[in-house]
Amino acid sequence: MVVVSSSSGRTIGDELAASLGWTHVHAEARRFPDTEGYVRLPEEHVAAVRDGPVVVVSNTFPDAGIVETLLLLDLLRDIREGRMENLRGIEPQRLGSVGPGLILAVPYFGYARQDKRFKPGEAISARAIGRLLAAHCDGLVVLDLHAPAVLNDLDVPVAFASAMPELATHLQNTVCPDFILSPDKGAIDRASAVAASIGCGFSYLEKTRIDAHTIVHKAKDLDVEGRVVAIVDDMIATGGTICRAADALRSQGAVAVHAACSHGLFTGGAVNRLSSHVDGVHATSSLPNRRAVIPGGPAIARGVRSVLSLLDLDAS
Ligand code: R5P
Repeated sequence: MVVVSSSSGRTIGDELAASLGWTHVHAEARRFPDTEGYVRLPEEHVAAVRDGPVVVVSNTFPDAGIVETLLLLDLLRDIREGRMENLRGIEPQRLGSVGPGLILAVPYFGYARQDKRFKPGEAISARAIGRLLAAHCDGLVVLDLHAPAVLNDLDVPVAFASAMPELATHLQNTVCPDFILSPDKGAIDRASAVAASIGCGFSYLEKTRIDAHTIVHKAKDLDVEGRVVAIVDDMIATGGTICRAADALRSQGAVAVHAACSHGLFTGGAVNRLSSHVDGVHATSSLPNRRAVIPGGPAIARGVRSVLSLLDLDAS
């Protein structure tokens, strides 16, 4: 059985294939001069994707990732349905269908934060992207989705995978925190799971976002005097949330502050900004960058097994 990665899924595709004990195939992806995308499955792998369930690992970020993901799913659907037509008439042109078993695993689900109408007239972007993807696969696995409820009503089974167990192990082995902080209420479940796994203290802040670059935290007494603290969030974008939380921790006596997240977007100089506020930044491999030091593949593998079992298919 095979994991097929798009251009955004190579590293995590390696980890996922190793966790499942499957073969990892790289789909070819390039751009035409006008920037339109092109994907192709090398011929030598066509038989393998008809041989059992297939997992496509691909991000829906940036926007070009959505198109690449859809092209790849459409291509694999054709092959699995036996639609092999080509201009040169190379045989076979038609085969039988191999049935359901095309799973999409999305390490970083772009558009996740627009999960409701914050103002009248807005698109619910996360749901729109979810519906689009669900129309092209038999099951979906999403890693540490910002607000999972938005994908609850899709037409295919969805597994919400979490890399918090691996994140906790990594923090324990590298910085040994004795306090975990959630920088807002939205990250409480994830951060408290990490604290429980490590067996250390936990608290959270209440955050108000003024705009994309400005956030404020409500003042709160935190029991962090002399402690090593890790702030745990689902994603870091501009770094503003983490920098403000780190300032609050330092002012209350924390001796070291680390930032850990599933998704390291690091937009607009975030890594530089963070370096003057925290002692270390740790992210999973959902997005390729230098802070991606926590494997995201094992969590996705757990999600794949759960979707396969919901589809009554064998993962072994
Ligand atoms: C929002 O609720 C998210 O969980 C993150 O806290 C947020 O997206 C981080 O963004 P930034 O790094 O720009 O503050």
